[in-house]
Amino acid sequence: MILEQYYTKCLAQGTYYIASAGEAVIIDPLREVQPYIDRAAADGVTIKYIFLTHFHADFVSGHVDLADKTDATIVLGPNAVTSYAFAKAEHGQIFQVGDISFELLHTPGHTMESSCYLLRDEHGKEKALFTGDTLFIGDVGRPDLAAKSDLSTEDLAGHLYDSLRKHIIPLPDDIIIYPAHGAGSACGKNMSSETSDSLGNQKKTNYALAPEMTKEEFIAELTTGIAAPPAYFPKNVSMNKGVNSSIDEVVRRGTTPIKIAAFKALSVEEDVLVLDVRSPQEFTKATVPGAWFIGLDGQFAPWVGALIEDIDQKIILITPPGREEESVTRLARVGYDNALGYLDGGMEAWIEAGEGVETMSNISAQEFVHGLEKQAIEHPIDVRKPGEYNTSHIADVPLHSLDEVHRQIEKLNPNNTYHIHCAGGYRSVIFASIARSKGISKVINVEGGYAAIKKATRKQLELT
Ligand SMILES: [Fe+2]
Repeated sequence: MILEQYYTKCLAQGTYYIASAGEAVIIDPLREVQPYIDRAAADGVTIKYIFLTHFHADFVSGHVDLADKTDATIVLGPNAVTSYAFAKAEHGQIFQVGDISFELLHTPGHTMESSCYLLRDEHGKEKALFTGDTLFIGDVGRPDLAAKSDLSTEDLAGHLYDSLRKHIIPLPDDIIIYPAHGAGSACGKNMSSETSDSLGNQKKTNYALAPEMTKEEFIAELTTGIAAPPAYFPKNVSMNKGVNSSIDEVVRRGTTPIKIAAFKALSVEEDVLVLDVRSPQEFTKATVPGAWFIGLDGQFAPWVGALIEDIDQKIILITPPGREEESVTRLARVGYDNALGYLDGGMEAWIEAGEGVETMSNISAQEFVHGLEKQAIEHPIDVRKPGEYNTSHIADVPLHSLDEVHRQIEKLNPNNTYHIHCAGGYRSVIFASIARSKGISKVINVEGGYAAIKKATRKQLELT
């Protein structure tokens, strides 16, 4: 048996490939499916099933594409309704794959169709449980996403309590838990940075499995302090229930090179967004006027989903050379399928052609701290998350969280100069770029963010 976890950091997501005696399954595939097909071909196995633990909210899965290309059967748990063909499994149903088997355990709570897959080895011994968003390492999935008029967040939390106690806690301690997400995902509150663990260890350390916890306590714990879900979540859920453009088509269109004159004409069209995905340093040095920055080297896809309000937004890209396909694929992972192409030759060609650029001022953390001490910094703002801000921040520096940038920008005055910092200098540039595109033109990025500020801070500056 081969068992492999493909962990994608940008989405904090785990996909699984398990093969035995000529057959394989893929659990919760990402949008781009060629890597799984290539892997199965390299191992000389046929992909028999695609198991989905539930309809994901935070990424668009490629299960329909994968099923089309491989003839594998898509499997979902009870209560699932889709516009494509799939096998609706019942609780306890067994799927044979080579010499191993999987039993579907219906575990409603995170969503009503949520299910786990229990792997038994060649000898019938329970080995692993693929838990989706039912059980994470150190946490469980949020119970609010599937709430509707006749099913409250509390009802869902109650279902999750029952599912964990009825179907997961009784399993042997030595099985390994493989979840769909890890730290950084917006699908839970408090996930560990580990991407797998034994069930026994989780029983000891995961608050949600504590034997003394009552259902009321569990519901109260799960329903307090949940951040509002990112705006793209409901859209990704509906894409996962339907049939979407093939990833090949999306990548083909998005990787069209666009010549400078055409790019320039598109860049000033109202319904086209210029997205610069290079580094913060490259972006601040020179970009195409009006461009937004969301760098590939960060939580790219979740920020795209959280900040670009229209999932069908037409996007033209400024990418690092050679990373065009990666950019388009990573947009498509969260359902942004409408990339029209990229700037042919990149910023270098644009500058060489003598086209106008937009630059952004940076200030070092030392200068910033020094300036604050002398009260010479105009309008410093912090764009981290409320949780980070509440842990520690500079006294009297207000919070304008990037998570709700569009609402926050409305509170800013176009006549002011804003000095913007986040934790490390990635989110501040995103915030500044969006603010600038909406008329807040005087923005200065604090390099290195709060981490650098803390280092540069002398006693005079008060951090609270
Ligand atoms: Fe989920």
